[in-house]
Amino acid sequence: MNVTTCIKTRRSIRKYKPVPVAHSVIDSIVSAASYSPSWNNTQITRFIAIEDSSILDTISNDFTPSFNANIIRQAPVLMAVTFVKGQCGFERDGSYITKKGDHWQMFDAGIACQTFCLAAKEQGLGTVIMGIFDEDGIADLLHIPEDQELAALIALGYPDIDPAPPVRKTLEELLQYR
Ligand SMILES: Cc1cc2nc3c(=O)[nH]c(=O)nc-3n(C[C@H](O)[C@H](O)[C@H](O)COP(=O)(O)O)c2cc1C
Repeated sequence: MNVTTCIKTRRSIRKYKPVPVAHSVIDSIVSAASYSPSWNNTQITRFIAIEDSSILDTISNDFTPSFNANIIRQAPVLMAVTFVKGQCGFERDGSYITKKGDHWQMFDAGIACQTFCLAAKEQGLGTVIMGIFDEDGIADLLHIPEDQELAALIALGYPDIDPAPPVRKTLEELLQYR
């Protein structure tokens, strides 16, 4: 699959087949995501592949709104994406390098999420990035270390739907030449 086709045909998938995803496939997707660009090559993004049904039940029942819980309940894998704090956007003495402060951390995690989703698409897998969840509750449940922060959840599995692409803004709205 060429890159443009992969970018344009990737969709957020909210319904999955009850088929497990082999660890070798998950490994290859995270390995591809490791090639994402990052601030000063700090590579702060980390991945926790959750397959344990009791953990998935707790996340869907206690820590996510129903529209995301309904996705998580039938996805074979839920990826918790975290990042190591305090490296990206910071000087060695801990001060911010730019006016954006520590926002570069989420920027880098976001790039890694998109690379992950595209690599998954190439393998025939569907994904949906989820940003709405009880961050503290899930961080506690997963024992995420103090020096890391939970950035996003990504459901992963073989798609059971083929949604039409949501309308995109026009080039005129998106692009200016100066
Ligand atoms: C940062 C971020 C957070 C998102 N959070 C959610 C979410 O909580 N639940 C959900 O169903 N979709 C979520 N989405 C998916 C978007 O709704 C989706 O990407 C958008 O509607 C465009 O559709 P497409 O991904 O199929 O192109 C999120 C996407 C991003 C990038």
